[in-house]
Amino acid sequence: MKNDKLEVTVIGGSGYVGGELLRLLLRHPGVRISQVTSRKFVNLDVSLLHPNLRGVTDLKFSNPDEVRHSDLIFLALPNGESMNSMEKWLSLSEKVIDLGADFRLKDAAEWQHWYGKEHVLPDWLSRFVYGLPEIYRREIKSARYVAGPGCEAAVSILCLYPFIKNNIIKSHPIIIDAKMSSSQAGSKASWASHHPERAGAIRSYKPTNHRHQAEIEQAFRPFSGEVAVSISATAVEMVRGILVTIHAFLDKEIGEKEIRAILKKEYGNEPFVRIIKMNRGLYRYPEPKILQGTNFCDLGFELENRTSRLVIIGAIDNLVKGAAGNAVQCLNLMSGFPEETGLEFTGLHPV
Ligand SMILES: NC(=O)c1ccc[n+]([C@@H]2O[C@H](COP(=O)([O-])OP(=O)(O)OC[C@H]3O[C@@H](n4cnc5c(N)ncnc54)[C@H](OP(=O)(O)O)[C@@H]3O)[C@@H](O)[C@H]2O)c1
Repeated sequence: MKNDKLEVTVIGGSGYVGGELLRLLLRHPGVRISQVTSRKFVNLDVSLLHPNLRGVTDLKFSNPDEVRHSDLIFLALPNGESMNSMEKWLSLSEKVIDLGADFRLKDAAEWQHWYGKEHVLPDWLSRFVYGLPEIYRREIKSARYVAGPGCEAAVSILCLYPFIKNNIIKSHPIIIDAKMSSSQAGSKASWASHHPERAGAIRSYKPTNHRHQAEIEQAFRPFSGEVAVSISATAVEMVRGILVTIHAFLDKEIGEKEIRAILKKEYGNEPFVRIIKMNRGLYRYPEPKILQGTNFCDLGFELENRTSRLVIIGAIDNLVKGAAGNAVQCLNLMSGFPEETGLEFTGLHPV
């Protein structure tokens, strides 16, 4: 701590999640960013890569090999990278929040199954707390090491949690139809992300076996044993945002009023979860477009009595509640700041 501010370092600061961390942390009254790293852009202005930060900061990128000690390190590295260097980051900070996938699963064999290689630090998996504050708030408050959820997993878990916890839906089939934006794939361009290929596409890119299924099933194991969740992911024409439409089947008869009561009980006091199911006005169900830049997760639902189907609809900004904003929420809990600090942006309309 310098001048009573928490000193934080952002590793992987030139990427999309790193950029969002900077945007949020630069306006956080209790935090000072001491270092931001990039291998490719050492000594260049952060605002060169994140032009929305022009005039807001004169920070420059530094080399990840020259990082000094700080109070908390954020890791915004590609999946499979943080486990290779984690021992170094742990020696350089009391607290670490990793936004990649390396420490989200508790079981090394399961991690290997989904990520296709052996985990480098299997003993450390159990030491990371899964960083979804609405469900693991108490654990995050006392944690030193937090693994941020996958964006698609975060919104799906928040949608399903009240229903699985209260035994409202059958544990399978639960089908998550996920519409994904392009920023989810990170800032590194690829053949498939080239504008003429990506623009205008509705691309079914992961109809089965999406990795985030493992995180979602892990989160629900303590409540109902084996839950089988299936994701079908489609890339759509958005830069930011995820919309999930979840199809689940009721285990008992229940009406809309009771569902509203269950959601209110679970999320009524949550600062970032809103129940959206309106009879009038604009955007009557959750809509990622109006969540851009915000830390909100909007949830809605509809019941189909004839087929006992419960449709749960969830929306977030993948880079905020799905990544950087959620991680700042975790920092606030870990450091004793009010949970909403730095996350007050309400979004824009129209946008
Ligand atoms: N995008 C999303 O919507 C989203 C949502 C939730 C979670 N996440 C997770 O967040 C992480 C970052 O995602 P992103 O979208 O920001 O990716 P990105 O745009 O590709 O950024 C990755 C960053 O890591 C740096 N980097 C890459 N390899 C490195 C290495 N070996 N050592 C040090 N720095 C390295 C890159 O910069 P240099 O090459 O200049 O060093 C870059 O700054 C991923 O693990 C992703 O799964 C992403």
